[in-house]
This record gives sequence, C-alpha cells and structure tokens, in this order.
Amino acid sequence: MAIRNIVKLGEECLRKVCKPQEKFDLRLWILLKDMADTMYKAEGVGLAAPQVGILRRVVVIDVGEGLIELINPVIVERSGSQCGREGCLSLPGRQGIVTRPNWVKVQAQDRKGNAFEFEAEGFFARAVCHELDHLDGRVYIDVMDRELTPEEIEGHVPEDDEE
Ligand code: NI
Repeated sequence: MAIRNIVKLGEECLRKVCKPQEKFDLRLWILLKDMADTMYKAEGVGLAAPQVGILRRVVVIDVGEGLIELINPVIVERSGSQCGREGCLSLPGRQGIVTRPNWVKVQAQDRKGNAFEFEAEGFFARAVCHELDHLDGRVYIDVMDRELTPEEIEGHVPEDDEE
C-alpha cells in the first residue's frame, strides 16, 4: 500500500490535458492501487491521475457502491441536470454548487484494456463528470455556479435539495 501525495490547486499538473493510457501493465496496476489507497485514506469519492502528478487518463471512483477504475473514459451521452455541492481533494476546505448532468453514459477501458460501457445517475454521475474534468485540466471551481461560505459548508444549503 502506497499513499501518494495529492497535489493542490496552483500546481501545474492540475491544469494539463492528460494523455491516453496506452499500456495496460503492472505499472498501471500499481498506479490504480495507489490511487484507490490514496482516495480511501483521504475519504474522497474519486481521484484522477493528475491529482497524484500523473498526466494520464486514469480515474478511480467509489461513491459507496464499490471501486470503479476508468481508463481513457469518455462521456458519450448525457441527460437532465442536477444542482448540488461539490468538493475536491485538491482544494481542501472548499466547496461549491455545481450544475451537472443527472445521467451520463460512459465508455472506458478496464485495467486490462477491455472496452466497457456503463451508465451513472445522480451523485455517481456527478462524480464521473468531476473526475473526467480533471483529465482535461478542469477543476470544479471553473464550472461552479457559486462557492459556498464556511458556514454553508458546515450546514444546510438550499441547492442541495433534490427537486
Ligand atoms: Ni477533484
């Protein structure tokens, strides 16, 4: 188990467009394991490779339904919209309200390079959109509706309510 350092906003690697992952080898599997360990230790629900300084299109997500590993993921369909709060391990202590699609269909590869497709809804869809943005050098503050105050981060925010 290796916990990697999570880079913070301001570091160049968070603003780069990541390259496709081309090799499905031991080095990738170690990266995936380290990324999952790092995400769980930080109590996050997702982590993208650039957040550990690796400029490749690799993401891990666990919104409470088990770990999912995405290599070279692409959103191929989206529908609806949801408005809710978002944070990021690279921006500790901050949260914002972000509008995202309520449903997405994603094509990706698994750790062996096999193509697969899945659909995500609600908070899972939000996490997918957030992590995939990282692969293109975007963070949620670039697309947020507004930033929450420290008081709101602790308490109730109207936009959190499901419609
Ligand atoms: Ni993030």
